[in-house]
Amino acid sequence: MDKLIINGGKPLIGEIAISGMKNSAVAILLANIMIEDECIIENLPDISDVNRSLEILEAMGASVTRLGDGCVKIDSKNITPCSSPDELVRKMRASYYVLGAELARFGRTNVACPGGCDFGVRPIDQHIKGFEALGATVSVNDRHIIALTDDGLHGGSVFMDVVSVGATINVMLAAVKAKGVTVIENAAREPHIVDTANFLNACGAKISGAGTDVIKITGVASLHGVTYKIIPDMIEAGTFMVLAAATRGRLKVSNIIPKHLESISAKLEEMGATVEEDDESVTVSLAGSLSPANVKTQPYPGFPTDMNPQMCVLMCLANGKSRMMEGVWDNRFRYVEELKRMGADIVVADSKIANVNGSPEGLYGASVRAIDLRAGAAMVVAGLAAKGKTEIDDIFHIQRGYEDIVGKLQRVGADIKIVSTPDA
Ligand code: EPU
Repeated sequence: MDKLIINGGKPLIGEIAISGMKNSAVAILLANIMIEDECIIENLPDISDVNRSLEILEAMGASVTRLGDGCVKIDSKNITPCSSPDELVRKMRASYYVLGAELARFGRTNVACPGGCDFGVRPIDQHIKGFEALGATVSVNDRHIIALTDDGLHGGSVFMDVVSVGATINVMLAAVKAKGVTVIENAAREPHIVDTANFLNACGAKISGAGTDVIKITGVASLHGVTYKIIPDMIEAGTFMVLAAATRGRLKVSNIIPKHLESISAKLEEMGATVEEDDESVTVSLAGSLSPANVKTQPYPGFPTDMNPQMCVLMCLANGKSRMMEGVWDNRFRYVEELKRMGADIVVADSKIANVNGSPEGLYGASVRAIDLRAGAAMVVAGLAAKGKTEIDDIFHIQRGYEDIVGKLQRVGADIKIVSTPDA
């Protein structure tokens, strides 16, 4: 079992280059299932969710060649239908993209129920509703999701009852090779949806409107291979932006698309940080004190739910009362108990609102767990901001989504290291 050891309380100063976006990478890698050709995907982050996606492709019969430096060649010609291994699929949420991609290529799919972070109930009813609108017959038991068609999918209209990233991408994948036109209304607008659509269009798909709430897909008969570069990870960037303010340091967060970070930049400025924007970087610093703020997480372009825990750490360090309202997931505040071990004064109401009573000396080092991926990132931010020693267990959650987090932080002056302890 690996754990992180942090000696915090020092301002972090320097530059951190952001890696490719996890949630784009997993969608684009699994979309390769529907391309009977060779693709080269660049700027892949070296994280366990990407490695698991590649393992799923290999187990299904794709040839995967790691070319180094975040670059992978994938040849999916020999993929066998309904062959994704249950044990790999159950380790990550995004494996539900196998459903849409297999339906597109083979007109049938059979995939184990996906795993991922535990935020309470994580339904997939909108994915199923979309597949059914395109002509699939879908059945779900407690272990598998099975979808069948008589003669492939046809175009259809889908109105999403909730704004869902996964359902929007999955229905878009399924529709790319369906006969006729598909329209998805009330679609999610996250940058990774645009990235996935750009990749598919480069392969010959006809998708318009990605990034708006209406996406139109005209089915095509076949797709061809391309070389494609994944966009930078806005949540990794946002995490380091918050870290700069939390440690009262100055970090240039580079290799980013600043537009994707507007909701985070605006909130940091409201709390008293300085955010200087360039074409491909933002520099965040804090000289004075932090003011409290209220945040409500929402689908893009609102404040991202995947920044809820990290932002809550900053609220713990502000002068006064802040409020974090979760507008996407039912139960995203499981990390609060861990932050309380570090001295945080937080009361959660109805599992949707965290009332935070902050103070500049509000956190001290302690032993905590990474409850999930972003909760783990928040523990790293808290540990680096707090005086004293913090130990973080269960860091495999953090390694699912942050490339070389220890190396990147050491290079800007953090006292952080990874230690291996024998399994209990
Ligand atoms: N929802 C439904 N029915 C569905 C699908 C979703 O009711 O069929 C609800 C969910 O319960 C939730 C809301 O819709 O309340 C939004 O869920 P969404 O489908 O957008 O989430 P997701 O696609 O499963 C992705 C990211 C998450 C991120 C959410 C929200 C990937 C692989 N995961 O999940 O990222 O929190 O969108 O932005 O893209 C992370 O990176 O740490 C992470 C958890």
